[in-house]
Amino acid sequence: MKRSIIVGNWKMYLTSLADAHVLTTTIRNNIEKLANIEVVLCPPFLWLTEMAGIIGHGDGAIKLGGQDVFYEQTGAYTGEVSPLMLKEAAHYVIIGHSERREYFGETDMDINEKVISALRAGLTPIICVGEKKRSLNASEPYHQLKEALMHVPKIHYKDIVIAYEPIWAISDGKSGNNAEPEYVARVITRLRELVHFDTPILYGGSVKPSNVEKYAKRPEIDGVLVGGASIRATEFIKICKLWYQRKGFKK
Ligand code: PGA
Repeated sequence: MKRSIIVGNWKMYLTSLADAHVLTTTIRNNIEKLANIEVVLCPPFLWLTEMAGIIGHGDGAIKLGGQDVFYEQTGAYTGEVSPLMLKEAAHYVIIGHSERREYFGETDMDINEKVISALRAGLTPIICVGEKKRSLNASEPYHQLKEALMHVPKIHYKDIVIAYEPIWAISDGKSGNNAEPEYVARVITRLRELVHFDTPILYGGSVKPSNVEKYAKRPEIDGVLVGGASIRATEFIKICKLWYQRKGFKK
C-alpha cells in the first residue's frame, strides 16, 4: 500500500521554545506508530535540535523537516542555512512555499537550485506549488513543478514529495477556505504527469479535522500539509488519526 505523509508547517506562529516543547511532546505522546503514515514536523530552524531531542533521531513515528534551506552547501552567506547542517537534524525540507515566493522573492530558478542541493545533501524536498487564483487548467502549478524539477534525474523522483497548495486556500492561521477535494484531485492528476506513480503528492490549504476526511477519501491525494492547525496539538493529532482511519490503514 502507498504510504501517506502528514506535514505540520509551524511557520513563525509559535514564539516560545517552551510552547514548542509542549506541542512536540503532546504530539509524540499521542501518535503511536501509525503504520504507513509518516508524520513530519517543521519547526523553525532554531528549534530543530531541541525537537529532535524530544522525538528522537531514529526511526520513530515522527520525523523533522526544515521550512526552507539555502542552495549553496557552504561559504560566505550570512544568515543562511546549508542543507548539510539541516541534514544533521532533519529528514525533510519544505522548498518553494508560496510565502517564500511572495515575501522573499524566491523564483522558480532559486527553488530548482534548492531542490538539487537538498537532494545532494540527502534531504527529501517537499516542493510546494500552487496557483494564485482558482483555475482548473492547472497551468501555474504545472509550470512551477516543471521548473522545480529541471535537471533533477528521474531516479530521484522517489526521493521527493510534492505539496499542491493553492494560494487562495491557505489560511491566515485561524480561518481560510479549503479547496474542494474534486478540484484538488484534478490538479494533482495533472501534476502526476510530471513525476512517478510513487512520488507522494499532498494537498495543503486550510486543512482541519472537519475537512481532512474528504481528502483522505481521494486516492489521488497522498497526504496533507497543515499550517495553522499544526500548532494546535489536539487538532493536529486528530488530523493524523482521521487520515489513518479514512485511508483504511486501520487493521
Ligand atoms: P494552512 O497553511 O493550513 O494554515 O492553510 C498551509 C500552508 O501554508 O502550508
